[in-house]
Amino acid sequence: MKNILEIKDLNISFKLESQIAKAIHGISLQLERAKSLGIVGESGCGKSVTAMSVMRLLPSNAVIESGEILWKEKNILGFSEKEMQQIRGNQIALIPQDPMTSLNPLYTVGEQIHEVIALHQKVSKKEAKEIAIESLKNVKIPEADKRYNDYPHQFSGGMRQRAIIAMSLSCNPELIIADEPTTALDVTVQAQILNLIKSVQEERGTSLLLITHDLGIVAETCNNVAVLYAGRIVEYADVMSIFKNPLHPYTQGLLESLPVKNSQKLKAIKGQPPAISDNISGCPFYPRCGHRIELCKNVSPELITVSENHRVSCHLYN
Ligand SMILES: Nc1ncnc2c1ncn2[C@@H]1O[C@H](COP(=O)(O)OP(=O)(O)OP(=O)(O)O)[C@@H](O)[C@H]1O
Ligand SMILES: [Mg+2]
Repeated sequence: MKNILEIKDLNISFKLESQIAKAIHGISLQLERAKSLGIVGESGCGKSVTAMSVMRLLPSNAVIESGEILWKEKNILGFSEKEMQQIRGNQIALIPQDPMTSLNPLYTVGEQIHEVIALHQKVSKKEAKEIAIESLKNVKIPEADKRYNDYPHQFSGGMRQRAIIAMSLSCNPELIIADEPTTALDVTVQAQILNLIKSVQEERGTSLLLITHDLGIVAETCNNVAVLYAGRIVEYADVMSIFKNPLHPYTQGLLESLPVKNSQKLKAIKGQPPAISDNISGCPFYPRCGHRIELCKNVSPELITVSENHRVSCHLYN
């Protein structure tokens, strides 16, 4: 088994008030065991929906129209809720976008980690507490045995996110899905949290699906990257190829909007991505693209393989 996770031609729509709108358009992704895959793209491009579909935690108005999500070669879309509960937390851990909403303010941080451990592992209360404190130590929470008794509001933002990570990792997952794990944090803490996730991933051989809108973060953390635009994969390659040889005008735009040391040349991509309710017949990036040709207006480009490990969906390469 090469891929621990494989998404095949996934299509997801949302029931809106007066219509059904498609948010995910035939996405296919592969993640090898112990490797990391970054999913990047602007707000609304479908990163969280993709992540949540793997956890089978989509909003109730979401409809998975077709496709497969293979977890260790088994299609989890066919799993019962009970089977999913076994996978969530045990085998796949989610580090969510906002750390505050995933900690209960009424219980101490320690109690909450304790509860997760007790739920997933057959250990005594005392052992669960020891594991919980150990897991807080592992994510470098100082004086973990004392901080165990603190409430979430007594933790800083960075510490809360560490606590969530401790909670996620306490069951030794095989895959970590981190959905913008650092957006709520300041830059120095961001780097610490990313290093933490990376070191855990490397030490334990965990696979990582890292969602972010920041290609810089992907460069430091991931082996491969999928660039999403309007619910479609527009470029998919190893990190080196994406940075050395970005092919899609959208990827090029994302790279140009990265802050460069000692430079003020920050170019944001002009315009807005389409809404899922918009009718798009050609390339979804057409209205914003500086390299567009007539063909792009009405013909949607296929994802083509340009070299080993490098795929792009753009008429310029066809
Ligand atoms: N429950 C819902 N009902 C209707 N549309 C939804 C729902 N959830 C998400 N969407 C739409 O699906 C699209 C993808 O959303 P998603 O949350 O995956 O974006 P994202 O890439 O994670 O963005 P962000 O960077 O802001 O977190 C968006 O257009 C969003 O408006
Ligand atoms: Mg999101």
